[in-house]
Amino acid sequence: MEFLDKFVIPQSLEHIKLLHYLATLVLFLFVPFISIVFGSTALSLHFRKKGTSESDKGLIYFAKDLIGMFTVNKNVGIVLGIIPVITLMLIYAQLLHSANNSAVTYLFIASILIIVSFIFIYTYRYLMSFDIIFNSLQNFESDNKTIVNDFNKLSKASRTISLRVGHYGLILLVLSIWFLLGGWNVALHPEQADKQGIFAVLFSLDVIIRLLSFLSFAMALTGGAILFRFFFWEGGIKGLDEKYLGLVKNIGVKIAFYFSALIPIFLVINLTIFPKAALSSSIFIYSGLTLFFLFICYNILYAMTKNEKVNYSGVLFILLLLAMCFSLTKDQLAMNNATELQTLKLGKKYEVMMASLTGETVKVPVINGEDVFQTRCSACHAFDYKIVGPSYNESLKKYEGKLKDLVAFILNPKKINPDYIPMPNPGLKPSEAKAVAKYILDTYKK
Ligand code: HEC
Repeated sequence: MEFLDKFVIPQSLEHIKLLHYLATLVLFLFVPFISIVFGSTALSLHFRKKGTSESDKGLIYFAKDLIGMFTVNKNVGIVLGIIPVITLMLIYAQLLHSANNSAVTYLFIASILIIVSFIFIYTYRYLMSFDIIFNSLQNFESDNKTIVNDFNKLSKASRTISLRVGHYGLILLVLSIWFLLGGWNVALHPEQADKQGIFAVLFSLDVIIRLLSFLSFAMALTGGAILFRFFFWEGGIKGLDEKYLGLVKNIGVKIAFYFSALIPIFLVINLTIFPKAALSSSIFIYSGLTLFFLFICYNILYAMTKNEKVNYSGVLFILLLLAMCFSLTKDQLAMNNATELQTLKLGKKYEVMMASLTGETVKVPVINGEDVFQTRCSACHAFDYKIVGPSYNESLKKYEGKLKDLVAFILNPKKINPDYIPMPNPGLKPSEAKAVAKYILDTYKK
């Protein structure tokens, strides 16, 4: 997205921090909403089909209630669905400014897809009301045969179109989430930026796992939202018959339970595929909190299956939301960690820009070796003691006067000492590798 790149100017480190908070906040609004829109559309389509083939009016009403309740109305769709993706795209354009990174392009595609998918989903929602009308007149009779024929044709056409539109909307929504996660993954791996084509990114194991994890979280939250809306919000929905409520409870509990049981599996796989540069202890803390809240949810859901009544559906929904927010915080933190070097570069550019504005002499924005060391090496290396890798004071002697060899090693680490695990490729640019090699060679005790 080069045109976006031209719009943004480098920001100070404080501003960048603020942008990270802003991104998290936007995610807190957007992800739960889009999750419930996805879940309710998928379930509505499913029960719509099942209800028609089994001629079960209860299921058809449920399908209509689902899509009607959770998509709220067009304006909510725009405020919670479309504006946030565009905001997110702009924030990322700023965070990844001049990083040669296609993440922003992915977000741009995701925004377009979301707009189109919302148009389909809201159309589905309106057409669904026609279906209900046609259904209630099912035994329509008239002496005039052509009218009866027309009526039957029209009711069939309306059903076909609404199902088709609903499916298109759902598919586009999944695609949009897929692109969103793809872009996020590209941003998380700045060292691979632009080396991978779009298919390689979308079908990479990381992105597929994230997509599955996103969708199961979305379904779990939708299950919680169903219970919340029917049994808690404003005292629950009044005037529905017991049989219908029993059906709703049964479906809500099942969906919330089975899908939230999948989340821990994906969460663990997710952690193992995070790039090393993205990990930090707070990421494990937030993952732990996500699991803890999910665990309480399992207990509430279990109690619901045992009791006649639906208790604590309000608490359940809030806890599921919290679990989701913790998981999102973890992801944004990972992004923060992975783009640390990029952030430093932006901060430097900002200083240069300010200096040139105030008329001071302009320094070229070089990344110094110490910055690279602090952000990319210090997790595993120190000068005077070993961490994951050997101490520099010990291992750098052999590189004395051989800067080139050291740079070559850093750019492409080889297995050396059997006492250590092999060093993972830190993914630096040649200029960064050279800067850090110089820095550590100059700094270690000879
Ligand atoms: C995830 C941990 C980790 C990170 C991050 C890491 N290293 Fe290493 N490093 C290791 C390990 C483990 C070894 C030992 C590898 C071996 O002996 O096979 C090692 C070995 C080395 C060596 C010794 C090579 C030799 O010939 O004995 C140097 C020099 C080095 N790392 C520099 C760096 C620099 C510079 C960075 C940052 C750009 C860095 N490392 C980042 C884990 C890491």
